[in-house]
Amino acid sequence: MLENIGSYIKVKNIMNKETLIDSKIVKKHILGSGLKKVGNGSIREVVRLVNRIENESGIDFIRMEMGVPGLEPPKIGILAEIEALKNGFASKYAMMEGVSVLKEEASRFVKMFLDIDVQPHHCLPSVGAMQGAIATFLVANRSDKNKEGTLFIDPGFPVQKQQCKVLGHTYESFDVYDYRGDKLRDKLEEYLKKGKTSSVLYSNPNNPSWICFTDKELKIIGELANKYDAIIVEDLAYFGMDFRKDYSIPGKAPFQPTVAKYTDNYVLLVSSSKAFSYAGQRIGLIIVSDKLFVRRYPDLKRYYTSDGFGYSMIFGALYALSAGVSHSTQYGLAAMLKAANDGEYNFVSNVSEYGKRAKIMKKLFTDNGFKIVYDKDEDKPIADGFYFTFSYPGFSGVDLLEEMLYYGISSISLDITGSHRNEGLRACVSQTSFEKMNILKERLEKFNEHNKH
Ligand SMILES: Cc1ncc(COP(=O)(O)O)c(C=O)c1O
Repeated sequence: MLENIGSYIKVKNIMNKETLIDSKIVKKHILGSGLKKVGNGSIREVVRLVNRIENESGIDFIRMEMGVPGLEPPKIGILAEIEALKNGFASKYAMMEGVSVLKEEASRFVKMFLDIDVQPHHCLPSVGAMQGAIATFLVANRSDKNKEGTLFIDPGFPVQKQQCKVLGHTYESFDVYDYRGDKLRDKLEEYLKKGKTSSVLYSNPNNPSWICFTDKELKIIGELANKYDAIIVEDLAYFGMDFRKDYSIPGKAPFQPTVAKYTDNYVLLVSSSKAFSYAGQRIGLIIVSDKLFVRRYPDLKRYYTSDGFGYSMIFGALYALSAGVSHSTQYGLAAMLKAANDGEYNFVSNVSEYGKRAKIMKKLFTDNGFKIVYDKDEDKPIADGFYFTFSYPGFSGVDLLEEMLYYGISSISLDITGSHRNEGLRACVSQTSFEKMNILKERLEKFNEHNKH
């Protein structure tokens, strides 16, 4: 009841302001969304709401809610896919472990850009990193009957917790904001020493906060993985996209930092969606460490015909999920990886535009009274990249999200990402091209004019 009164008062207020979008339209669709609080809506629910407001108002939003690539996909991938289709692959089932040319290039890719050795046999295609995560949960979280599930180092990608939920796996999480650097060790141990953690998952660079773990932090994670025998699932959905360093030259340092330098107990998830602007084709890679792939876990036999980790991943999890990945996308990704490995296609410089956009957008926000929420990696300012987080004095994130809709700006709340910074929102820069920066500036100025004290 109180909550309803609160939102009624806010509506009255907003009705008196000359906002960009007709407030009646915004309010109508907020009420029609069926969400108790739109600020708590999932990414896809906010997308649907904004589509409806745009349709009725005829005004385009500055859309920052969804992490969809804003760049053209590389031709190399598309041409290789067309070739594969012309060769008749559409009628043939793909082998679950993947086509050999992709496995070879994936193994080369992790050598060239992470400086690690993984046999081609242990590099598997997945239907996006999304499927990579659920397949990994299916095996890692069932490898030891005395353990329970996943520890998420948050903030994180909400749907991965949804995956644990639908599998019936338990999970725990903590917001890493206050536990950077050396403090990470004690915090992680607090969970791991209970002996119940099968796997630990984080993304690096991080969605939503764009923090990047330092080598010191990755070393801590790796050491504790060894000490407590937990499997680290390192989600590299934004591979190479910390633009403060140039990770783009194959075989040359600096390399994308990875926990694989500090433990053999790892699964890496690589996505083609952002680094290769290939989200629509739904292909990623699961890179299982050579040691983990051949390791035997007798408790896996409860679910699978084999006690082998890698074998269960292929013939248990991936088979059950989608029986492999379409041939043509595998050939497309193989061609892109080959071009990157051979130094003929610089996938990092292609997406570095996101960093340039973020730099401008963050300045527009901070010039207009907003604050960056996750602003540091230990003592260093955070990188400019695909996402950033922001807040505005006097607003909770959930209320700020709703209020900004009236000004034609959409985002998602950090609340749904496991962050404890509930004043914050996540902005994705991918759909805000340079031409739209002036529009964003005007809208933020108007918002600030109406809300500053
Ligand atoms: C952290 C993280 N992991 C995984 C994914 C999913 O990647 P894919 O499109 O390869 O399934 C995303 C997509 O936004 C992401 O942000």
